[in-house]
Amino acid sequence: MEKLMIAGGRPLRGTVQISGAKNSAIALIPAAILAETAVTLDNLPLLSDVSIYTELLTELGATVERDHDQMVIDPRQLVSKPMPNGNVKKLRASYYLMGALLGRFGEATIGMPGGCNFEPRPIDQHIKGFEALGAQVTNENGALHIKAKQLRGAKIYLDVVSVGATINIMLAASRAKGVTTIENAAKEPEIIDVATLLNSMGAKIKGAGTETIRIEGVDNLHGCRHSIIPDRIQAGTYMIAAAATRGDVIVDSVIPKHLEALTAKLQEMGVHIYEMDESIRVVGQPEYMSVDVKALVYPGYATDLQSPMSSLLTQASGVSVLTDYVYSNRFKHIPELVRMGAKIRVEGRSAIIEGGMLSAAKVKATDLRAGAALVVAGLTVPGGITEITGVEYIDRGYDHLVANLSNLGAEVWRRDE
Ligand code: EPU
Repeated sequence: MEKLMIAGGRPLRGTVQISGAKNSAIALIPAAILAETAVTLDNLPLLSDVSIYTELLTELGATVERDHDQMVIDPRQLVSKPMPNGNVKKLRASYYLMGALLGRFGEATIGMPGGCNFEPRPIDQHIKGFEALGAQVTNENGALHIKAKQLRGAKIYLDVVSVGATINIMLAASRAKGVTTIENAAKEPEIIDVATLLNSMGAKIKGAGTETIRIEGVDNLHGCRHSIIPDRIQAGTYMIAAAATRGDVIVDSVIPKHLEALTAKLQEMGVHIYEMDESIRVVGQPEYMSVDVKALVYPGYATDLQSPMSSLLTQASGVSVLTDYVYSNRFKHIPELVRMGAKIRVEGRSAIIEGGMLSAAKVKATDLRAGAALVVAGLTVPGGITEITGVEYIDRGYDHLVANLSNLGAEVWRRDE
């Protein structure tokens, strides 16, 4: 096990390249198995979750070849096989195998997903969707067995706006007989990315990115080539880190529109932001104003950027209130920030953050974005070394983190625990 060491207090300066989106990649990889021929994915991030998914597809008989940021998935030898344990337990997005295998074979047995467990994350809306499409869903010793003689298009209203349920239903419905509509669908850019891939494979999906998605089922899907959208959460984390260290950073290879809610919030605090076509320059300032942040579904402020933002808000004067309306209790990073001297208390689904200096400490990342929060916090601390354990969580979502931060002038390194 490694830990991350940060000698903070240096303003980040320079340019950072953003890789493909994790939360797209781990939906696009299982989507590819719906095709009859090979799918090529470009701009793939180098992340542990992507490697685990590669192993999962190989276990199912697909041939997966990877060369840097490109992956070729040939699903011709794919078989329907129960996957109750093992790698499926290692990542949350293994639930996409349910929709993909159901669409491809009419049957799937998948262990309940693992991944970042910052709070209970139910999948009732996924199951509701599969059942509406005509599948029977039973729980067999902790694995879901999903089976349909014939998937049939249906009208599905999601009780909760869910990224995972929206994508999972799109996957299965793309091979159903007839038309499926998803009402109250999630609108995240990753959903558009999955719909774009499926349409390039021959699916007929309209309305992705709006709250109503219409999917006309087709008999066959074929291979294609697709480039993954940039990771807006990784980009947002570097933007926040640039502001927190009073640096001057160009976050490159991004879609600025995907980051509008964050950009607006940073500007409200007093950070200077310059948007270009495919990059955003963030220029930190000596003083920041406190702000209130509400994490919502897209296009609202992203819950995944709530934790890193809580570290930045310790640098603002006055009291900020950060409320997460997506997850009620995603605050495992707060006690760690308090260990670093932050004045934060949690009330219900809000963190009340009073500005003040942080100091170096030994802290623990308990999930991916909690880890990102601690990295941002550590980068702000002059004098002393912040030690972060639980680096394996951070590696799920930030590729080349140490190299990227070092290129920006930070003193960051890994050390064996
Ligand atoms: N929910 C339900 N029932 C369901 C599904 C979701 O009640 O069947 C609730 C959840 O408990 C949560 C809300 O609905 O309160 C939204 O959950 P959603 O389904 O949208 O989350 P997800 O698809 O499981 C993805 C990302 C998360 C990100 C959320 C929200 C992946 C693999 N994960 O999760 O990313 O926080 O959307 O944007 O795409 C991360 O990258 O660190 C991460 C956790």
